[in-house]
Amino acid sequence: MATIILNHPLIDHKLTIMRNKETGTKEFRQNLDEIAMLMAYEVTKSLPLQNIEIETPICSMTGKKLVRPIVLVPILRAGLGLVDGFKTMIPTAKVGHIGMSRNEETLQPEEYYAKFPSCLKEADVIVLDPMLATGGSACAAITNIKKRGAKNIKFACLVAAPEGIQVIETEHPDVDLIVGALDEKLNDKGYIVPGLGDAGDRLFGTD
Ligand code: PRP
Ligand code: URA
Repeated sequence: MATIILNHPLIDHKLTIMRNKETGTKEFRQNLDEIAMLMAYEVTKSLPLQNIEIETPICSMTGKKLVRPIVLVPILRAGLGLVDGFKTMIPTAKVGHIGMSRNEETLQPEEYYAKFPSCLKEADVIVLDPMLATGGSACAAITNIKKRGAKNIKFACLVAAPEGIQVIETEHPDVDLIVGALDEKLNDKGYIVPGLGDAGDRLFGTD
């Protein structure tokens, strides 16, 4: 469908703080949370609405309501860092989880957990992961979500490599891709350059 690179001044400012290797866990988390709120605004811009008749204190009018429920699906672990910001902006959203771990030798994703709300099939599903590198994890997560019946899927990530974008556009052309910042390339270990390092480790203080 569409690939949108946000290039938003506030996101770029906060992302630069996150990229800095001197930035510690607290500031990393806080900036990711703030970016998630900004991204939620952009990611939900094209959600379909339907008309609804209401009475204001003054008169009758035709208002708008979302057509479908919203389901957020963070890819564990690093996707968890985007959930609170999205939930702040969409408090009625339900949350599914999918655990994907990238094998550091083969760079292939391995799924270790999946649990989704029952409304997945009729929902607008927003898959969350700060990092889109080779695209393997996102691609496998989206495939799994589609197998469970989801039809309206968006993928939101903070930093993407061109290689990952290409993979999603090819394998899942029906999925809208919303990217905070497009980086230059992958290095020989599959890390995004310049990137921000290992998002999960920086978010949770593991190494
Ligand atoms: C990271 C990141 C993505 C994936 C991106 O997760 O959060 O899920 O790598 O890489 P890819 O596009 O090449 O698949 P990781 O597997 O390191 O797990 P973690 O979040 O538990 O650290
Ligand atoms: N996963 C990360 O957390 N960072 C990268 O640069 C690539 C994959």
